Amino acid sequence: MTADADLLQRTTELALEFLEGLPHRRVGPTVPLEELRAALGGPLPEQGEDPLATVERLARAADPGLVGMAGPRYFGFVIGGHLPAALAADWLTSTWDQNATLYVSAPSNSVAEEAASGWLLEILQLPRAASVGFTTGCMMANFTALAAARHAVLARRGWDVETRGLYGAPEIDVVIGDEAHVTIHAALQMLGLGRDRVKRVPTDGQGRMETAALREVLKDRHGPLIVCAQAGNVNTGAFDPLDEIATAVREHAGWLHVDGAFGLWANASPALAHLARGAEKADSWATDGHKWLNVPYDSGIVIVNDPAAHRAAMTIAAPYLVQTEGRERDPFDYVPEFSRRARGFTVWAALRSLGRAGIADLVGRCCALARRFVEILRQEPGVEILNDVVLNQVLVRFHPLGGGDADAFTRQVITRVQEDGTCWLGGTTWHGVAAMRISVSNWSTTAADVEESAGAILRAARA
Ligand SMILES: Cc1ncc(COP(=O)(O)O)c(C=O)c1O
Repeated sequence: MTADADLLQRTTELALEFLEGLPHRRVGPTVPLEELRAALGGPLPEQGEDPLATVERLARAADPGLVGMAGPRYFGFVIGGHLPAALAADWLTSTWDQNATLYVSAPSNSVAEEAASGWLLEILQLPRAASVGFTTGCMMANFTALAAARHAVLARRGWDVETRGLYGAPEIDVVIGDEAHVTIHAALQMLGLGRDRVKRVPTDGQGRMETAALREVLKDRHGPLIVCAQAGNVNTGAFDPLDEIATAVREHAGWLHVDGAFGLWANASPALAHLARGAEKADSWATDGHKWLNVPYDSGIVIVNDPAAHRAAMTIAAPYLVQTEGRERDPFDYVPEFSRRARGFTVWAALRSLGRAGIADLVGRCCALARRFVEILRQEPGVEILNDVVLNQVLVRFHPLGGGDADAFTRQVITRVQEDGTCWLGGTTWHGVAAMRISVSNWSTTAADVEESAGAILRAARA
């Protein structure tokens, strides 16, 4: 066996130890920042050491600060785990170490991206001629889609934004819902469209954009227009009325972008697809592989129903690049990066290993488990469920039984649950009040995990 083989064998053992312990380990970190700094920091040694010693040291030093995010009882933010096939494909991706810029630099990845693109369009029920890019996450997917939108709405006015920039360009009206995800704001900021000059449309009690208010905002607008809607509110899981929004945006010849980081996956489940009705009428979509598809980080997906605009916004040319003339896919034509990880393999493996039925089952199961949380928690006096649980997100508020400050009490319950370590979940402020967020997005979560976690939450509320 070569030295490398010993190293990788031992690394496999370390990875398996972690994976075997994942369902049982404390979900949060077990040591404070200073201990992690002491274990991982210090001066760079003058002389290197045996790679095996380095890897052993890394595994030992990092372990207490690892969060059981990939495990079955992590309900914070919107975090998926890693499907076995996707994790294994990720190991191979690192081993193969392909720079997936061009077809010529990584042909297998290009074709895996091509195949995965077709499967994604089918499963998400989006136009089959749309182009797909594999980004680091949904934020960069939003960025890429909005760059394509910026290109298209200005090109229609005879303005080439890629060469001329925004100086002197016709003004673009950008319209978003009050509940747009923060990464939409970030993307607009990076694209020179401005975070604060956007027109915001009021949302209802679940965080859905009000169509009548949108129509009012659009009423006198005749210039270049981009509207950002949402499939799956990060707090409530609610969907903007996409069908109605699409009609309104079309009447103004605008570009409709849908941020569907996790919500777009409702379309993969026949029982849930009604929530995303009309999504297919948009011009661009952003979603994630690393959330509901349970691909390891990082994995985002951008889809644009105007491949020419998509490519125009992203393509770079240089004399030394052997770019194809359209027959093969050059992955960097669809994303903001140049050198990049071969992200096609993990998405390919996740989709292939689950199949259509497996994806529908994963999405449906997470939603059923979110409802199970509700069933258990709502029996407890003082517990209030703040949202209509239409998807995989639950918002919970805790009222102290003897009366008192429910905001402070809710935050206290969240801290206690985090300290207890049975599960991990975070908090938010929802329409002015403190709330606990529960997001069920992991393929390996079972009813038993939900019951154990709900038990920990109720213990924290009774303490
Ligand atoms: C609706 C929505 N959009 C965008 C994002 C950003 O996704 P990412 O963290 O993959 O960049 C999130 C993350 O939770 C989200 O929920």
